[in-house]
Amino acid sequence: MDEPRTPAANDAARIHATPSAAPIGAQVHGVDLALPLGDAAFERILDLFHRHAVIVLRGQRLTPAQLVAFSARFGPLDVHHMTEHVFPELPQVRVLSNAKQKDGSTAGITRGGMHWHSDLSYKPVTALATLLYGLECPAEGADTEFASTTAAWAALPEEAKARLAGLTAVHDRNFRYSALYPNRAPLTPEQVAGVPPAVHPLVVEHPATRQPALFVAKDVVSHVVGMDAAPSRVLIDELEAFITRPEFVHVHRWQAGDLVVWDNRCLLHRATPYAFDRDVRTLWRTQVKGSAPRAPAIASA
Ligand code: SIN
Repeated sequence: MDEPRTPAANDAARIHATPSAAPIGAQVHGVDLALPLGDAAFERILDLFHRHAVIVLRGQRLTPAQLVAFSARFGPLDVHHMTEHVFPELPQVRVLSNAKQKDGSTAGITRGGMHWHSDLSYKPVTALATLLYGLECPAEGADTEFASTTAAWAALPEEAKARLAGLTAVHDRNFRYSALYPNRAPLTPEQVAGVPPAVHPLVVEHPATRQPALFVAKDVVSHVVGMDAAPSRVLIDELEAFITRPEFVHVHRWQAGDLVVWDNRCLLHRATPYAFDRDVRTLWRTQVKGSAPRAPAIASA
């Protein structure tokens, strides 16, 4: 935490947020997750999560079990379908790390998530939230960027909204996998078959806030259903470029002890590069299961 550890930590009435300059993102004060957290305090955090979509709790000192316990307050946790680099006793926690081990392998997943995406968008049931806890963070680069798909939708001209409402698009993990991850083996036929493409509305409604949001990312969405390939690609690329305009983006610059919780239902995110061969970046990650994305009534009318 950025404040002294006092018995007042986790007092619901004292938990408050400092919003970022972007439409999403806020630092939350008054929480120490190493101490007991009552229901009222968690409800306050949940409210701030719904308001700001990305919340940052600084100065935390967490064990993997404490990270799992806090993550599970948001909902049932996912065990990632790629099971390497998880804690054997706690497979809900995945390690992201380029730290070299004695055998030359890395201690965790490296160079993941460097394209704009919403976690598990390529599955029928997508991710509600992701929690990322920083243990070692480079001084330069290695940020996580978040783009508000809600603010982007709201800023679209009415005629564009009318054109997009009711469209669906295909999210496919295999679409650009080899280009995105040249340092990894291509997905095996079994892995491809295990995660078939999913069709989702291009405009979705947030289950808690009821706000509409765009749901598209150019490196994951292969095509818009019912459109010819060329105009479909143009539309997808244009929409991502619009969503990720600087006015919709919040950049999180990591410090060790940061816990960042983001809402995959109303934003895209990506990791930025750093000096992989010089600096070490280690984080623990959990993911909360969501629901099947739904179109808002306005978009399906
Ligand atoms: C992710 O996409 O979940 C990873 C984000 C990051 O490493 O900053």
